[in-house]
Amino acid sequence: MKFEAGRILTAGLCLALGLSPLYSQTAAAPKPPAATKPPAPKASPATASPSSAAGKAAAATDKPLMAEDVFTNVKVLRGIPVNQFMETMGFFSASLGYNCTNCHGNAVAGNWERYADDIPVKNTSRRMVTMVNAINKAQFGGAQVITCYTCHRGGPTPKSIPSLLEQYSEASPEDPNDVERSSRASSAPSADDMLNRYLNAIGGEQKLATLTSFAGTGHYEGFDSYHGGVKFDIYAKASGEHSVNIHTQNGDQVTTYDAHNAWIMGPDKPVSVLQLVPGGDMDGVKLESALAFPAKLKQALTRMRTGFPTTTIDDKAVDVLEATAGASRVKLFFDKESGLLIRMVRFSKTVVGSVPVQVDYADYREVAGVKIPFQWNLTWTDGQSMFSLEDVKPNVAIDAAKFAKPVAPAKPAVAPAKITK
Ligand code: HEC
Ligand code: HEC
Repeated sequence: MKFEAGRILTAGLCLALGLSPLYSQTAAAPKPPAATKPPAPKASPATASPSSAAGKAAAATDKPLMAEDVFTNVKVLRGIPVNQFMETMGFFSASLGYNCTNCHGNAVAGNWERYADDIPVKNTSRRMVTMVNAINKAQFGGAQVITCYTCHRGGPTPKSIPSLLEQYSEASPEDPNDVERSSRASSAPSADDMLNRYLNAIGGEQKLATLTSFAGTGHYEGFDSYHGGVKFDIYAKASGEHSVNIHTQNGDQVTTYDAHNAWIMGPDKPVSVLQLVPGGDMDGVKLESALAFPAKLKQALTRMRTGFPTTTIDDKAVDVLEATAGASRVKLFFDKESGLLIRMVRFSKTVVGSVPVQVDYADYREVAGVKIPFQWNLTWTDGQSMFSLEDVKPNVAIDAAKFAKPVAPAKPAVAPAKITK
């Protein structure tokens, strides 16, 4: 697989720190666009200023924001949280091989308001959502069997005539993320064996117990930094708190989790500070916090399943562990040779299908006797990004404010228009 930086990731190891992609989208222009006008959102309670004097009582949970609370022209995707609505847009884009502008017009670049405009292709998409729901209801008991991707396969015009070229060509290489369990595959190693082996590979339980927090800084390249290098920092505690802050040219992209509530903030978001509600994104944030201190990983996973045929990632044989984190399906890929975690894929459910989010780990180095990956690459429907740690300080005191609800900057939001592959 290829990453922006042109680096080929070969292997790696685990501990995660993957930044949750949530719903940030690709930036619109090759250079930081001049902020145009304030964003459209008609109501934005979640952008409310930092919590009251009580400061700490900040545990206060915001009312979940639904798509129709924030956007002005939502007709079919109603009653779903804002972040899931944005993931649905990512699902549409990935299924059709489209950028946001293909369905929304060029006027949306840098301008959230124009996303409300109805153009024919947007109306076609609404009809398609209704059609898909009707098929699934009538034929599959309402299960999400048929999705946009089933027909579209990454293109706008589904094919109806079988291709002879395809029929007589070699099969394309298998995507390891697609591997499914098979009754013919051995169920060994067991989930416990895989996880124990991994914990030993990164230092063993005793060493893991001595690492209780870390603070790191590093280099980031991604869709929201126009693929240029910017700084990021990460803070994590074994008690669950986890925070990643990317200092992009347009402002900070923050994902933060105080061990109970999680928020995302970014200059390209429709709601500048959004509290996550239970669901795929929240499951992802929690899993990343567990992967940062893997001693507790077993508690973070339920319904662990093994028994996958051997597959490879960059020519390395891997053991696959499938599990459920919160309510989301996840797959963990461990290097057969080293036992280290080299990939995590989670499937974030939306109303139209599941969006895959992949994190590849590499460059494991020892920090206070525990191996942590100094590089991780995030790949999802809206873009790819690369995180590379430069400095990690173990067992430092971290100000609780780092994990609290982020404070929105005064700057207006910049709407995205393009997906960068
Ligand atoms: C395949 C077509 C398609 C693509 C691609 C697509 N959208 Fe949409 N988008 C829609 C449809 C359809 C709606 C209206 C949904 C409804 O009425 O329930 C919509 C609505 C929206 C809205 C709500 C606007 C309002 O105020 O009512 C926003 C914001 C939005 N899209 C953002 C995006 C972004 C950002 C991207 C790129 C990541 C994107 N969309 C990609 C089809 C698409
Ligand atoms: C059962 C198969 C099927 C499914 C499922 C499906 N589509 Fe389509 N879609 C089609 C076909 C066929 C066309 C082409 C129709 C034509 O050319 O008249 C099409 C056309 C479109 C177009 C117009 C493309 C263009 O640029 O003209 C859009 C947009 C679209 N679909 C969006 C979606 C979305 C979004 C979903 C998921 C909610 C979806 N489709 C699910 C079969 C499907």
